[in-house]
Amino acid sequence: MRIDVLTLFPEMFESPLSHSILKRAQDSGIVDIVLTNIRDFSTDNYRKVDDKPYGGGPGMVMMPGPVFDCFEHVMKQSSEKGRVILLTPQGQKFDQKKALELSTEKRLVLIAGRYEGIDERIRIGLGAEQISIGDYVLSGGELAAMVIIDAVVRLLAGALGHEDSPRDESFSEGLLEYPQYTRPEVFRDMKVPDILLSGDHAKIAEWRRRQAIERTKKWRPDLLKENSNKNEQGEH
Ligand code: 6GU
Repeated sequence: MRIDVLTLFPEMFESPLSHSILKRAQDSGIVDIVLTNIRDFSTDNYRKVDDKPYGGGPGMVMMPGPVFDCFEHVMKQSSEKGRVILLTPQGQKFDQKKALELSTEKRLVLIAGRYEGIDERIRIGLGAEQISIGDYVLSGGELAAMVIIDAVVRLLAGALGHEDSPRDESFSEGLLEYPQYTRPEVFRDMKVPDILLSGDHAKIAEWRRRQAIERTKKWRPDLLKENSNKNEQGEH
């Protein structure tokens, strides 16, 4: 997969992209992440990329020119059109289902908005779909782009360090994850449940599923409502 990110702050991506799974996935050629600075496409002597809103009001608005020129430059670098995504709090809510859907694409083009807003003609002109990572306001789309990159790349074949499918984990099934334990067997008077030491794999699988359902009921009952067909209302 190729992921392009159009941003005014490419440096923000350095640390998240150079650790752990995202680093390994790039090193092994599973994903190619290309950062392009929108400011490089300013035609202004002062490298200006924003201006006052027409009609008045507080804050600054991202100008369409530099974003369009940046976009056209980036699109020329690969024949694959991919999915063009504008990161904005006005977008459709990002979730595991959307991550899975995006993970099947050959190319993603993520555009991070900054400042108080972006000129409406950017959304219209680029034919971009809009995605938000939740109902709160961030200072820009950069952190949201990083969240999406992380959630998507770890779903790509070979990105995780083990064979198990990431599709088995939390949310993919509409349930929270079951509790995990590692050594020591007793820690500060808290003991690992006996079942996990029993070696009975069928019983363990059954216990884990029951635990996953119970925790979801207790902590995220909203997930059971969304997935009532899939999990038979949590009764199994
Ligand atoms: Cl994608 N951008 C901004 N600025 N704020 C957000 C967001 C995106 N998603 C949630 N809040």
